[in-house]
Amino acid sequence: MRITVVGAGYVGLVSGACFADFGHQVTCVDKDVGKIRALKRGDMPIYEPGLLELVRSNAREGRLSFSTFLAGAVKRAEVVMIAVGTPSRRGDGCADLSYVYAVAREIAPRISGFTVVVVKSTVPVGTGDEVERIIREARPDADVAVVSNPEFLREGAAIRDFKHPDRIVIGCEDERARQVMAELYRPLYINAAPILGTRRRAAELIKYAANAFLATKITFINEIADLCEKLGADVQEVARGVGLDNRIGSKFLHAGPGFGGSCFPKDTVALVKIGQDNQAPLRIVETVVAVNDQRKRAMAGKVALALDGAVRGKTIGVIGLTFKPNTDDMREAPSIALITALQDMGGKVKAHDPIGMEQAKAALPDVIYCDSPYSCAENADALVIVTEWEQFRALDLGRLKQAMARPVLIDLRNIYRADELRKHGFRYLGVGKPPLEADSRPTELLRSAL
Ligand code: UGA
Repeated sequence: MRITVVGAGYVGLVSGACFADFGHQVTCVDKDVGKIRALKRGDMPIYEPGLLELVRSNAREGRLSFSTFLAGAVKRAEVVMIAVGTPSRRGDGCADLSYVYAVAREIAPRISGFTVVVVKSTVPVGTGDEVERIIREARPDADVAVVSNPEFLREGAAIRDFKHPDRIVIGCEDERARQVMAELYRPLYINAAPILGTRRRAAELIKYAANAFLATKITFINEIADLCEKLGADVQEVARGVGLDNRIGSKFLHAGPGFGGSCFPKDTVALVKIGQDNQAPLRIVETVVAVNDQRKRAMAGKVALALDGAVRGKTIGVIGLTFKPNTDDMREAPSIALITALQDMGGKVKAHDPIGMEQAKAALPDVIYCDSPYSCAENADALVIVTEWEQFRALDLGRLKQAMARPVLIDLRNIYRADELRKHGFRYLGVGKPPLEADSRPTELLRSAL
């Protein structure tokens, strides 16, 4: 099957490479000449485990190509996927659909033969209707069906998620298009991936509702973690006890510094706006957005607490800058709010990330970047783990302690055990952990530090 993917960003590139790997003939089109040139050379614009190999091998086999020339690629395609960005519109938080609609306008004159236009970008309910209207207005004669097929890929695990999805959602109003979509995903039927056929509007809403629900789950456990700290309970024990209930499930119950990334923050805000615009306010999601925003900055209070309230003039090492491991993505990363807050308090920040330092430099210019966790810990008064990269899970604690001015570790992902760290002579603070008597400080201190 011949597929044209418009937008060689995260979703477009991963989907394009995976469809090519299934045996389809894929062209990824992007307006960014530099990006397409790099992709043709086999260089990736993003870091995603396994993507480089997948792109190179499928390009070598002649199933995957890259182009800046939309017209030719659309003419030949049976399926055109729209995978361009839908950033938050400045001011109101609505998803900015101008790129999606521009693609619809651009592809309309080039469509020939029965063509399925698949919207992969995360878009508000009704966008599929508008894409169809734009195409029909420009080309009343076109034989076209518009389908919503949201993606549920996680950065860092995107290829695995694509090939072993929990479900594939296809929102469609046309039987022929449904058959084309079935053919497109046929290799996954063999793996028995559930394919859920819905109306188009339901598919559009499923994506937002799923992301908002996951964001709510994280925010819920984060607030329970705060309560644990007050009550002397351990949030990991609580999460395990709660998550073993099959109705709840144990995933996305890891307390931390708040969710970040290119999806949850943007999609929750957009869903809130959709609710408000349709007189069906989503008060839970509104609260999730507010609580999460506040939380990222409030993590600096934990650091202040570990430093007895005095951040001014102190050197703080921060390891793990990207919004999660296995990506170089810094969008809405909790590290940004945390480091900015520490700098506002008069602290000097050193930082290290295994992959994301180049991206981090743009968001956080006034930071000393270090090439390893140990050089980051050098002469630091405290070390903060913000992202749980695999390589931070077994640090040489003796070496770390020796490098630091003071052995203080703030573990915002709970990857270490308090007793182990304390045995090594560290003052240790996790998230949602009962403080040791010696480590507990009055809440006022935390407040005054913020
Ligand atoms: C998320 C969804 O998980 C995907 O299903 C969806 O396709 C994607 O958004 C999207 O809309 O494109 P992603 O943003 O890549 O994927 O990352 P997640 O693994 O979901 O993590 C998001 C944030 O939540 C990270 O900052 C992570 O650290 C945080 N998180 C996650 C927690 O703090 N605790 C958890 O238990 C899980």
